[in-house]
Formats: sequence, structure tokens, C-alpha cells
Amino acid sequence: MPSYRDFHRRSIEDPEAFWREEAKRIHWETPFDTVLDRSNPPFARWFVGGRTNLCHNAVDRHLADRPQQNALIYVSTETGIERRYTYTELHAEINRMAAAMRSLGVKRGDRVLIYLPMIPEAVFAMLACARLGAIHSVVFGGFAAPNLAARIDDAQPVLIVTADAGARGGKVIDYTPLVDEALARATHKPPHVLLIDRQLAPERLNASYLIDYEPLREQFFDAHVPCEWLESSEPSYVLYTSGTTGRPKGVQRDVGGYAVALAASMEYIFEGRPGDTMFTASDIGWVVGHSYIIYAPLLAGLTTVMYEGTPVRPDGGVWWRLVEQHRINLMFTAPTAIRVLKKQDPALLKQSDLSSLRTLFLAGEPLDEPTASWIGDALGKPVVDNYWQTETGWPMLAIQRGVEVLPPKLGSPGMPVYGYDLTLRNEDTGEPCAPGEKGVITLGYPLPPGCMATVWHDDARFVDTYWSSVPNQHVYSTFDWGVQDEGGYVTILGRTDDVINIAGHRLGTREIEEALSSHAAVAEVAVVGVTDALKGQVALAFVVLRDAGGYATDDARSKLEADLVKTVDRQLGAIARPARVHVVAMLPKTRSGKLLRRAIAALAEGRDPGDLPTIEDPVALQQVREALDTPRG
Ligand code: PRX
Repeated sequence: MPSYRDFHRRSIEDPEAFWREEAKRIHWETPFDTVLDRSNPPFARWFVGGRTNLCHNAVDRHLADRPQQNALIYVSTETGIERRYTYTELHAEINRMAAAMRSLGVKRGDRVLIYLPMIPEAVFAMLACARLGAIHSVVFGGFAAPNLAARIDDAQPVLIVTADAGARGGKVIDYTPLVDEALARATHKPPHVLLIDRQLAPERLNASYLIDYEPLREQFFDAHVPCEWLESSEPSYVLYTSGTTGRPKGVQRDVGGYAVALAASMEYIFEGRPGDTMFTASDIGWVVGHSYIIYAPLLAGLTTVMYEGTPVRPDGGVWWRLVEQHRINLMFTAPTAIRVLKKQDPALLKQSDLSSLRTLFLAGEPLDEPTASWIGDALGKPVVDNYWQTETGWPMLAIQRGVEVLPPKLGSPGMPVYGYDLTLRNEDTGEPCAPGEKGVITLGYPLPPGCMATVWHDDARFVDTYWSSVPNQHVYSTFDWGVQDEGGYVTILGRTDDVINIAGHRLGTREIEEALSSHAAVAEVAVVGVTDALKGQVALAFVVLRDAGGYATDDARSKLEADLVKTVDRQLGAIARPARVHVVAMLPKTRSGKLLRRAIAALAEGRDPGDLPTIEDPVALQQVREALDTPRG
């Protein structure tokens, strides 16, 4: 195993040599001429001139060595359905889907929007896009119609793939009415919507644009669709993520760099070997799902387990039984799921044989020490916190399992991963921080392969948002605060912007504010994230009403609160729902009118908001304090 420091140093001092070697992990139909094109910073193009295909590398390439190995094991505790697909069977299903998509006009470079629950067809659809050279944009199934409409208009897909329904916690969610509403709201109207009918929805919509997949699957049962050999930097997918504004950003990823980075990460970070089984409990709508349910395990010849359901249904032992039953070696989820499991009967964990499990990986939000210690002790296996973002696509900080394994430090996701020139910088000067000094986590140019190439059709936004926020430096900002100790371990201290993290789901407070502002009763609104023992953070909303007199009674207030919460559900989805909506007469602002969100969050967490010399009217803070002290009506 390479020494941590040498390995990291080599990757930073000579990225070309380092990644030229790693690029051998994948198949190149045409070899690349140049490892890295640095001619147009901050843009970086990896493996220029090389031609490859993600689907070929994830599936076709394994047909020779592991045709009968399971590629995908699907388990739904919502429907009771379990299915297994060998690499040969997965290959056949992807070809059917690709042929069906092609028959609906999808071709190289086209966007396909995927709005699907956790079903195997989601994997087929994503890999079918990769096969055709089409660009998939997966929208999380928990998002509501207006959200979907915004993404349709931004991505301009030629096709939407959806299902009749999703299911969560025993509740069926009809998808077709949501898609219908999104299409009515969107300016861009794709001609077709391909429908996977699970026969779950009690009343599925019938619209002329809906095309059932099943007959097409039959028609193309024996189809073989060749892989499009794409230039390494052509886009593979666009995944929208929240930022400071209400308008989500389309994170665009390349083909070759992503394939190489993920394949390398399976060995060096996850220590996943061909033939291993990996269970990533996330959703295909998030980056963890893209990278570690689908692409990375398949690229590296593993078996991936895809799960539809919650960790506590039918009981809190369900995931551990999956480990035993499928001899799972690697597990990956978010700390919130572990906090949920911690509340269950500890005996449930002891009832399953967990001897196959080597490591549990956790990411997406801070891993608190009690949760880390509890699960580490209970499993008796390493628990590996890792830190990254939708933008990077794979971990930036971790204790890497396939490089010299450094001792873990509770509360820290570890040290910078190879490829990442990670530095904490002073917010005002841009200078590197001394050990122990709080700073913004930044990355130097070039970002390693696999990271975002740009913002979809908005290069200027990529440069302005990510590369222009640290004073005096041309560096990438993660918008996370952190602190690094003498030994190099980094601890994450929360976001520098208005992004919050509810149960591992990244959301913009601005998006929630915009949803609430759309309610007729609301004049002004501030949304902040506050610490929550279970979900990590929850959103709290403070609203100023247009006509406060109209809601004077407790009854009217609680009705209004319920109505406002419903508005967020309808506009964004239940995941964005504020834990409470407080009515106040005014919001704390600076004299120039900027909302003092950090001061509000401090009060809500029982902290001192500090000195606020620029506050317009200190009474507003008192108002917030009083609202927080008012019990729920
Ligand atoms: O604030 C950091 C937090 O989640 C953000 C990225 O969220 P998302 O784009 O959804 O990507 C998740 C990929 C795992 C980061 O900017 N975050 C992510 N991982 C950690 C974390 N905060 C603390 N510890 C982590 N391990």
C-alpha cells in the first residue's frame, strides 16, 4: 500500500503522471493524446482526444470475466419485490431500454430527464443514456412539480422517463400527476414521457404523451445497441444542486474523467474489489446514488445492492438482514440513517451475521461523535466518514482504505484525498490558515478528474460562483468552513453560504423562502437551518404577514402555519418542509436591507448572536426571541 503522504504529494506535484497511470483502469476505444488540457483555467479537460463510454466500462467490459456474477441486486421493502440481474442480464435490459429510447428519438448529446423511484429501470435508463451518448438528468423523486418544471426548462430534455408511482414508508406517491403539472408549468415541452408502470398508482393518469415502456421492451427484447464512443470531455450527465440563489445549478460531469476517478476511488478509498458486494443506501436522485449505487461499483466489477424503503420498515433490523443475506462487504449511507437506527432496539443488530461486512462509509452531513462511536462499537468494523459534494462527485476528505490507512480521528472525515489540492483559507485575505484556524475549504486548480466540468450551459456561472469567491486567489470554494489540525485532519464546521442539510439532503434556504413567499399572506420571509439531534439540521421559517390582523387568534395562526407548510410541500417537496413557521412583525436586517440569517440561526440554537453594529432595528431580534419562546399553537 502506498504511503499516504507520498501518494498525495505525487498526485498534486505531477497530476499528469499520476492520472495517466490511473486511466489504465478503464477501456479507451481511442487512446487520449493529452492527459490534461490546462489551456483555459479554471476549466480542466481530462484525457483529451480519448474516446470511451461509461456503459461499456460499467457493463459490457465485464461480460468476458464475470458474465454470471450479479451486477445488481434490487430489494424493495415497499413492494416486497426482490430481483437479481447478472452482468449479462443487466446488459440485455440496458440494450432494450436504449433501443426504446432511440425509437423515441433520443440521440447523442440529447438530454433525458429521469424522474423515477428506486427501481431497477432507473439504472437501466441511466446506463442506456450513457450507452447512447445522451445526457441524463435525474431529478430526485421527492421533489415537487415546480422543481421538476424548473429542471425541464433548464435541461430541455427530448424525453422524460417516469413511473406511475413511488412508495415510501408504505405510502404510495402518484408520479404522473406531478409530471403532468410540471409539463403544464414548463415552457419547454418534450414530446414524450416514457412510463414504467409498476401498477402501484391507484389512478394513473392517461395522457397522449405517455408511452408505456413494457410493449417497447417486448418489441426490443433482443435489441443490441452499440455504445457511442464519446470524447472524454463530452457531458455524461447533469445533476442539479442547490446553492445560494433560488435557481439550482446543473452540475455537468464528463465521461472519461468520471470513469477513471470513480474506478480509482473504489480501490484507494473504498477498498472495493471485483466480486465484492456494495450496498449504498441513498437515492439515485443524489450524487451518492449516481457515483456509489451505480457507476463506481459497476465500473469496478462489484455487485451493487439497490434498496427501496426506509431503514426501519418492517423493523430496524432490515438493513442488517440484507448484509447477512447478500454477504454485503461494503455499506455506504448518511449519518442520519444511523441516528435513526440508533433509536431502535440494539438487539436487532446482533441478530444478523455481519461477518461479511468490512467497512461502513458515511457521508453527506457531519458525523457527530456519539453516532460514530455507537455504530463503530456496535459493528466492530471501521466506520469511515468521508466529505465531498455533488460538484466533486467523489470524496475530497477521507481515511482512505486502500492507501496507508491512517488512524481515524473522531469528528473529522480525515485528510485530503489524492488529486485534491485542498487548503483552508482565511475568508478575508485568502491566505492559508494556520493549524487550528477556521477557514474556507478551497481546492487549487486543476480539480482532479470526475469533478464538475462546468455549470450546464452556463460557463460564466461556474467561474463566478465557484472560482471567484475567495479574495486574491483563483481557487475553487467548497462553501464549507473547516479547521485543520497540526496533523492534517480536517473538521467540517458548516456552510459559508445559505445551503442547509436536512437529513443529508442538500437544500437552499432561498428555495424554501421563495416557496413561502408565493403564499398570498406572506410579505417577507427568512429561512435558517438549525441543529437537530436526528436530522442534523432542520429549517425554521420566520414570516412577516401582509395583514397580521387577519390572523390574530391562535387558531388562525396555526391554520396559517399548516397552510404555509403545505405550500412548501407543493412547491419543493416534503423534504424541504420547515419544522416550524414563526410569525414575526419584522425581520432582523442590516441597514442596507440584508437579512441577518446567521443571527437568527444563532438565536434559534440558543447561542449569542454576537455584536451586530449594522442592525437596522434591534427590536427585530427581540421579536425573533419571543417567537421562538412561543409554544406551538
Ligand atoms: O456541507 C458539506 C456537507 O454536504 C455538502 C454537500 O452535499 P451534496 O452536494 O448533497 O453532496 C453530498 C456528497 C456526500 C458539503 O458541502 N457534507 C458532505 N459530506 C460531509 C459533509 N459535512 C460534514 N461531513 C461530511 N462527511
